[in-house]
Amino acid sequence: MSSNPNPPLVTAIVLAAGAGTRMKSARAKVLHEIAGRSMIEHALVAVSGAGVRTTVAVVGHDREQVSAAITAHDPAIVQAVQEERNGTGHAVRVALESLAEPPRGTVLVTYGDVPLLSAQTLSELLVDHRASGRTVTILSAEVDNPTGYGRIVRDAVGSVTAIREHKDASEEERVICEINSGILAVEAEFLTHAVASLEANNSQGELYLTDIVGKAVLEGRPVGAHVLEDVWQTEGVNDRAQLARLGRELNHRLTQHWMSEGVTIVDPATTWIDSAVTIAPDVTLLPGTQLLGATVIGSGSTIGPDTTLRNVEVGRDATVVRTHGSDAVLGDGTTVGPYAYLRPGAVLGTGGKIGTFVEVKNSTIGEGAKVPHLSYVGDADIGDGANIGAGTIFANYDGVNKHRSTIGRHAKTSSNNTFVAPVSVGDGAFTGAGATIREDVPAGALAVSAGGQRNIEGWVEAKRPDTPSAQAARDAEPKSTVEAPGE
Ligand code: UD1
Ligand code: CA
Repeated sequence: MSSNPNPPLVTAIVLAAGAGTRMKSARAKVLHEIAGRSMIEHALVAVSGAGVRTTVAVVGHDREQVSAAITAHDPAIVQAVQEERNGTGHAVRVALESLAEPPRGTVLVTYGDVPLLSAQTLSELLVDHRASGRTVTILSAEVDNPTGYGRIVRDAVGSVTAIREHKDASEEERVICEINSGILAVEAEFLTHAVASLEANNSQGELYLTDIVGKAVLEGRPVGAHVLEDVWQTEGVNDRAQLARLGRELNHRLTQHWMSEGVTIVDPATTWIDSAVTIAPDVTLLPGTQLLGATVIGSGSTIGPDTTLRNVEVGRDATVVRTHGSDAVLGDGTTVGPYAYLRPGAVLGTGGKIGTFVEVKNSTIGEGAKVPHLSYVGDADIGDGANIGAGTIFANYDGVNKHRSTIGRHAKTSSNNTFVAPVSVGDGAFTGAGATIREDVPAGALAVSAGGQRNIEGWVEAKRPDTPSAQAARDAEPKSTVEAPGE
């Protein structure tokens, strides 16, 4: 994808100053996400994948938010602030002014709200632009409904003569279905002088970047369009419905990609995979699985059904069933779920098990160690081969501080234990059922803490006389250890 056939002198300008009014959001439009990446990040990833050296992002609306996101993505990106949104031509003017010296070579102009546009398409646009020797190459597309878009106007022999904005177009021009995507490649020297002379004599009173096409034609410079068959890549997002539509399409593309790489996806429609996820061949994804963030799945593993993993690293041949997890590591051959909750810092060693209704946070569970049932493991280190009994709680929080506990190698702890942290159980030690372990257990010891059982005879009859329980106890009396007098 990131093969780079382009010589180095390409400067990209990413326009992202516009308002996202129709999103009705406190969050800037270009920061809304699909496939785990904001739209501006999709744009920046595409641009850098096309071999661009210098990138200028034009910010304006919600600029603190947008600017912070761009810096977090790549602090080397130059940011130009467009104080007033006077149109795409004005935005490019502002971008050029922000550079220490005028760019040389080719300038690629793209938008921050066109998230399906790929690095490959930008590379192809640049290759076509260079090979054809044009001054301006527009990325265009044939669409069914061109309403709202700028139209590509061609002469009798099919040469591009202008871009006409919908609002400025005549009836005949509005019939044209070839639209301007807004993305274009242009020679830097021409761009610099062309945007300097733009005028706002149009229906919107804006500086149109698209007017540089007419100018180039007047100057006798070669212009043309690179027609993109894959119309999805030119689609912008203005509202939440378009965000969902493009999100589903991108997910469709990602599931297709992983299937072509040897991953079995039983139900692509209910499987969601973020852009940065990595999946090895011979992984099986069952319905209702979401692999998010930087999740990595090793070969032979089966994930799902109904599992959400964010930034989780899963080894080979693991099984993860009905699990919700984030920032966790699962070794080779592990089994997890059904109904497991993996919180940040959960690490499960090779062949280990985190079973049903088990929550694990900031804990390491050793190789072959098992926490099979109904437990909370927080801030603990469990040794290799240890087995934790059903219903165990690691009481890690004393109300002020969190403390760690340790369970030794091949320790066997019993059902319904509480480990009051900080406490440690030695290698090979055992605990009794219901034990509350407050003090360290030496290696090889059995720790019991529950007192001997005491039966208070007749308690129910004395204290709860009119209940069904008392009646049941009376009915059972012949079998009772307390014989009725006279019998
Ligand atoms: C623009 C094109 C139109 C094309 C359409 C594709 C112009 C004059 N028209 O239309 O031919 O079919 O895109 O979607 O170029 N922006 C700024 N600052 C501004 C204005 C816009 O940064 O002052 C940014 C926006 O954030 C957006 C992009 O530029 O990312 C396009 O702006 P938008 O208003 O959507 O474009 P249109 O004028 O509708
Ligand atoms: Ca638009």
